[in-house]
Amino acid sequence: MSQAASRGVQSNDLSKAVSSPIEGSRLQKDDLAAVYLPVSKELAAVDELLTSELQSETPWVDQLLEHNWINGGKRIRPLFLLLSGASCGELTDGHTHLAAAVEMIHAATLVHDDVLDKAETRRHQPTVNARWDNRISVLLGDYLFTHAFHVAASSLSAEAVKILAASSNKVCEGEMHQNAWQGKFDLSEEDYLKMISYKTAELCRCSCRLGALMSGADSETVEAFGKFGQDLGVAFQIIDDVLDLVGQQNKVGKTLGTDLLNQKTTLPIIHCLDNSSESEQQELLTLLSSNDCGVEQVMPHLLRTQSIEYTRSTAQKHAKSAFDFSDGLEANSYSTAMRHLASFVLKRTH
Ligand code: IPE
Ligand code: IPE
Ligand code: MG
Ligand code: MG
Repeated sequence: MSQAASRGVQSNDLSKAVSSPIEGSRLQKDDLAAVYLPVSKELAAVDELLTSELQSETPWVDQLLEHNWINGGKRIRPLFLLLSGASCGELTDGHTHLAAAVEMIHAATLVHDDVLDKAETRRHQPTVNARWDNRISVLLGDYLFTHAFHVAASSLSAEAVKILAASSNKVCEGEMHQNAWQGKFDLSEEDYLKMISYKTAELCRCSCRLGALMSGADSETVEAFGKFGQDLGVAFQIIDDVLDLVGQQNKVGKTLGTDLLNQKTTLPIIHCLDNSSESEQQELLTLLSSNDCGVEQVMPHLLRTQSIEYTRSTAQKHAKSAFDFSDGLEANSYSTAMRHLASFVLKRTH
């Protein structure tokens, strides 16, 4: 039975759409204020595009979007795109269209990811699968994917759409790998890093490349900005995996502990297993293989091996080259914002 049905909610009952403002996440955006500031006008244009592009005359779709979660994200990928673009030249409508497109691709992956992870909360709201059911999530995810490419086409850059498509392919492959590796507790750190570089860092890389490309940067510069996004995207996911274990759900705004419940092997677990004796490993593997493994059960092991500290330091290592890159750019409000973004990725609590 679907989660919604098990709670007695009719699967097609869209009339109960939640449309309350997302106070929590809006307030929390304050710690990104310095990052938003230099591109605030363009970010507002991205928000407008998201609303106008996704609007539909089909009442069913409209009610779904009234769920309002589309407004709740941090807009990290549009920020990557706009800050990279502004660092390389003038921002244009092409940038804002592509920034809306990357946010839609991201949102689509979240809707589908919440089905895979059986998550109940996203952006401080019930997930689409929890509010309705998995079928609605499949449809809304598809709707977001197709609209992403529609809005991207308005950038009038075939090259940009090609980059976006190739990156979207990689994101899907990353999620497929993760799904295939569910319950695989002997995952190597190398495989983990490769998987997260596909499922998460690739869209960050793509966003930075698109920003630079649309500002007319040469290919070397485009790739250098892409590497900034790639390095920070890896750090972003590593910290996300830490937050899944030690974050505060009311701050993060999404269901936590899902990695353990879904037997996803993340870096803290890999490090902990690698630094345990055979008997400790057996104890931990028994916990991890159970169907209801909770954070509190695993925490003594993670503390023993200092795996949270190790994981945070690995994120710092990946972010280091992003800091170095932003430090090497011409000093202006955009490069400063990129540095703030790198700091946020490491310090974030949401
Ligand atoms: C969540 O990304 C998914 C991951 C890649 C970890 P964000 O933390 O950027 O999600 P929103 O857009 O702010 O909700
Ligand atoms: C990010 O991984 C998934 C996508 C790239 C869609 P997670 O599964 O860790 O993301 P959250 O924690 O649900 O946001
Ligand atoms: Mg998830
Ligand atoms: Mg996560």
